[in-house]
Amino acid sequence: MKIAIASDHAGFTLKEAIKKHYEPMGITFDDLGTNNENRVDYPDYGKALGKAVMTGSYDFGIGICGTGIGIGIAANKVKGVRAALVYDQLTAELAKKHNNANVITLGGRTTSIAEAIKLIDTFKDTSFEARHQTRIDKIKGIEEAEDE
Ligand code: RB5
Repeated sequence: MKIAIASDHAGFTLKEAIKKHYEPMGITFDDLGTNNENRVDYPDYGKALGKAVMTGSYDFGIGICGTGIGIGIAANKVKGVRAALVYDQLTAELAKKHNNANVITLGGRTTSIAEAIKLIDTFKDTSFEARHQTRIDKIKGIEEAEDE
């Protein structure tokens, strides 16, 4: 499994903890930064994450900022990205089952390391339910209409 991961300064600690937990299990990460706790702007990292997920071969992306909100908003501006803020077991499950999210976002200031690991486990071990494909296609339709 290969995951693209990015954070701003408020998500840096959680980002490092996630890699430390999963790398020994053979999961590989492309880390798009940031690389320390110096203040940066989450849109830069959301954009980089969204672009990576849409052009690379990743199972999914993980974006982390203080709340998970800003980096998700930014990532969702990249065409094809379906970034979902996951903050409990149900949202982690349904982000895959119903929305087939290709990016999940987490809050470094709102979600503990232990809880984040549980949310990522739930998301990666859940399958998309094909009966929701029509809605995913409609989201794609919105993007295509914006291009006209
Ligand atoms: C940075 O202070 C903070 O605004 C950012 O990490 C994030 O929470 C924005 O949504």
